[in-house]
Amino acid sequence: MNLAYPWVRNPIIVSAPMRLIALAPLAVAVAKAGGFGFLAAGTDTGDLKAELERARSLLQKSPIKGVDPTTLPIGVGFINWGTNLNLALEAIKMHTPAAVWFFAPKQNEDLIDWTEKVRKMTGGRTKVWVQIGTVTDALHVAQACDPDVLVVQGADAGGHGLAQGAGIVSLLPEVADALRDIGMGHIPLIAAGGIVEGRGTAACLALGATGVVMGTRFLASKEANITKGYQDNVIRTKDGGLSTARTGVYDILRGITGWPDRYNGRGIINQSFLDSKNGLSIEDNKTLYNEALQKGDEGWGENGRLTAYAGSGVGLVKEVVSAQSIVEEVRGDAMETISKLSQALSKL
Ligand SMILES: Cc1cc2nc3c(=O)[nH]c(=O)nc-3n(C[C@H](O)[C@H](O)[C@H](O)COP(=O)(O)O)c2cc1C
Repeated sequence: MNLAYPWVRNPIIVSAPMRLIALAPLAVAVAKAGGFGFLAAGTDTGDLKAELERARSLLQKSPIKGVDPTTLPIGVGFINWGTNLNLALEAIKMHTPAAVWFFAPKQNEDLIDWTEKVRKMTGGRTKVWVQIGTVTDALHVAQACDPDVLVVQGADAGGHGLAQGAGIVSLLPEVADALRDIGMGHIPLIAAGGIVEGRGTAACLALGATGVVMGTRFLASKEANITKGYQDNVIRTKDGGLSTARTGVYDILRGITGWPDRYNGRGIINQSFLDSKNGLSIEDNKTLYNEALQKGDEGWGENGRLTAYAGSGVGLVKEVVSAQSIVEEVRGDAMETISKLSQALSKL
């Protein structure tokens, strides 16, 4: 990994492409701190060229040492079911990001075309990362397009993921073993879902991951493009197993359609979710949602109605700090945790 990404330090800390939230400032700040930052194209590639241009100009102001000047040292995350491949390729050709991240195709076979065309477009300088959430998908994707990296997303993840899936502690080693058994153990695995600090990162390294992706933790970064109401909601929420849920309701209320059936999203439980569970019609719930939109920051929270996608690790996210301090803290704490464990075990 480090051969391809000379600015990235081990263990690799990655900021997730979060639609509308992870834009150029976050991706660039993470790269500058020696992590790997993704900006989110989501399903709409309309702003992608401009966003990549913004990243380029941020990097020109303070370049990162050792970066190949023909490559942009950040990645772009696509939600494949809704993205036009040709528009995406135009932006990739123009800026050569160091990686693309594919997620949620209508069917895994669609990724073959995406992978081949991106690799051809940039002569392999843009690496292909694919986020999957089951052993079956890992095997399928590995055999179909031999990605450069597989992001293994466990069920605790914030935002969209598979409605049915396992937690990272069992999922990652089973994926690793299954890939090894078919001769594809060379693909680096990056763990995602419920990881928000150094201890979780150390645990994932022990499971066989090369690094970790965090989404929820970076919601509480200064560089995230997020409202104060949403960010405060994340900071205040504790006990993520109780206070978050996987649901399709938030997409319905926001008018977002098109996600393949097997996906839904994990978000902080609010009044919209509870009312829906208690039988309020979608129509009435939407009316109340639209009223909450007028309230601005007050529309979020336990008694609010606006969507705050976040993972079950949210209770460990306590303050808003810079992306640089998140990357440095998590990387440093992970190394310290491992070294303390090793010392403690040698004394047994
Ligand atoms: C607010 C939010 C938005 C997200 N948007 C995207 C997205 O646009 N594309 C994507 O591939 N993953 C998206 N994800 C999922 C992340 O890629 C990642 O799997 C997840 O954040 C990891 O779990 P964590 O939130 O517990 O760190 C999103 C996650 C969150 C919290």
